Amino acid sequence: MKIKSLVLTNFRNYKSLKVDFSDKINVFIGKNAQGKTNLLESIFYCCIGKSFKSIKDKDIINFDENEGYIGLLAERKYRELKIEVKLSKLHKKNILINALPIKKIGELIGEINVVFFSPSELKLVRESPEERRKFMDIDISQTNKRYFYLLSRYEKILSNRNKLLKNSENIDFVKETIDIWDRAIVQTAKKIAFERKKFIDEIMPYTEKAQSYLSGGKEEIKLNYVCGCNVKLDEKFEENMDKLLKKNLEKDFKLGYTTIGVHRDDIDIFLNGVEVKSFGSQGQQRTVALSLKLAELESMYLRTGEYPILMLDDVFSELDSERQARLLKFADRTQTFITCTDEKKITGKIFEIEKGKIKTIKN
Ligand SMILES: Nc1ncnc2c1ncn2[C@@H]1O[C@H](COP(=O)(O)OP(=O)(O)O)[C@@H](O)[C@H]1O
Ligand SMILES: [Mg+2]
Repeated sequence: MKIKSLVLTNFRNYKSLKVDFSDKINVFIGKNAQGKTNLLESIFYCCIGKSFKSIKDKDIINFDENEGYIGLLAERKYRELKIEVKLSKLHKKNILINALPIKKIGELIGEINVVFFSPSELKLVRESPEERRKFMDIDISQTNKRYFYLLSRYEKILSNRNKLLKNSENIDFVKETIDIWDRAIVQTAKKIAFERKKFIDEIMPYTEKAQSYLSGGKEEIKLNYVCGCNVKLDEKFEENMDKLLKKNLEKDFKLGYTTIGVHRDDIDIFLNGVEVKSFGSQGQQRTVALSLKLAELESMYLRTGEYPILMLDDVFSELDSERQARLLKFADRTQTFITCTDEKKITGKIFEIEKGKIKTIKN
C-alpha cells in the first residue's frame, strides 16, 4: 500500500499544495506550527474518513475559506485508487473513490490502511478504557467492514436501551419492553467481544516482539482483553449475558444507563508482570504504546497481505538514539511518513515545511 501523491486546497494552513511521495520513507522537517501534523492529518482523513484531531469537519478547512479539498492518489497491490474529500462549511462533506461519491464512511474504511503514532498516543496506555477501545475499533474496522457496521449497530441498540431506562416512569414498564433490546444487545455484543479477543490474541506475539526489540530484550509485555460483559467468552455467552442484564436491571433503571456490555471493554497491559498504566515510567509507557502500534502494522499485514502506511508524528525527539535507530529499521518495511523539528540522520525523501508551503530538500 503506497500513497503516490497528495493535493490540498484550503486545508488547514495549506492554501494550495501538490506533492509526490517516496514509496519508502518520507521526512517532513520544520519548526513548530508550520503544518507538519496538518499534512499527516489530511492523509489520515482519506484513510479513516475523519481526523485524529478535531471532531468538527469545519475546523480542517482554512480559516478564511468556505471550501476545502484533499485529493490523494494511492496504489494497492493490484489497483490504483483516487480518494477525494470535498469539504464545505456550508453543507455536508463529499467523499469520492475513483470519482464515485460514497454514501457511507464504511465504504471508505479499509481502502487505505494506516497506523498513526504521535506523542499523544500515550493516552492509549495511560488514559481511560475508551482510548483502548478506540484502538481496537479503528484497527479491526480497517480490515473488517462487517465489524465497523456492527459497532454502529451496537451503539444504536445501546442508546435505545438507555433511553428506555432513562425515560420510563416505572420499572414494570421497563421489564415488559426491554427484552427486545436485550436480545439485540447480547447478539451484537457477542460478535464484537469475540472479534476484539481475536484481535488481542493476534497482536500479542507481535507486541511482545516489538517491545523486546525496542527495549533491547529487557522488558516482557502481556496483553489481556477484559470484556465489559462480565461473562466468559464461550458458547453460553448470550445466555449468560442476558441473565446478567436482567440481574442488573433495577440498578440500571436507577442509574438510567446500561452498566454491562462491550462499551465497558478494556485491555490490561502488563510489563514484567506489573500494570503499565499505574506503575510504568513515562518512557516505558511510550515504548508500550509504540509496540502496540508496530504490532498493528504486522497484524494488518497478516490479515491483508499488504503493509499499511505508517505515520510517526513528532516521536523521534522523545526516543533515545538507540530506539530511534531500531524504530527506523522497523519503518523500513513499509511506506512511512515522519515529522520532526530538526534534521535527523534519517535516509529518505526529505521535505521542508514552512507556513503551509512545502519544499523538497532531498529526493
Ligand atoms: N483551519 C485552519 N486554517 C488555517 N490555519 C490553521 C487551521 N487549523 C490549524 N491551523 C494552523 O496550523 C498550524 C499548526 O499546524 P501543525 O501542522 O499542527 O504544526 P506542526 O508543524 O507543529 O505540526 C497553526 O499555526 C494553526 O494556526
Ligand atoms: Mg505537529
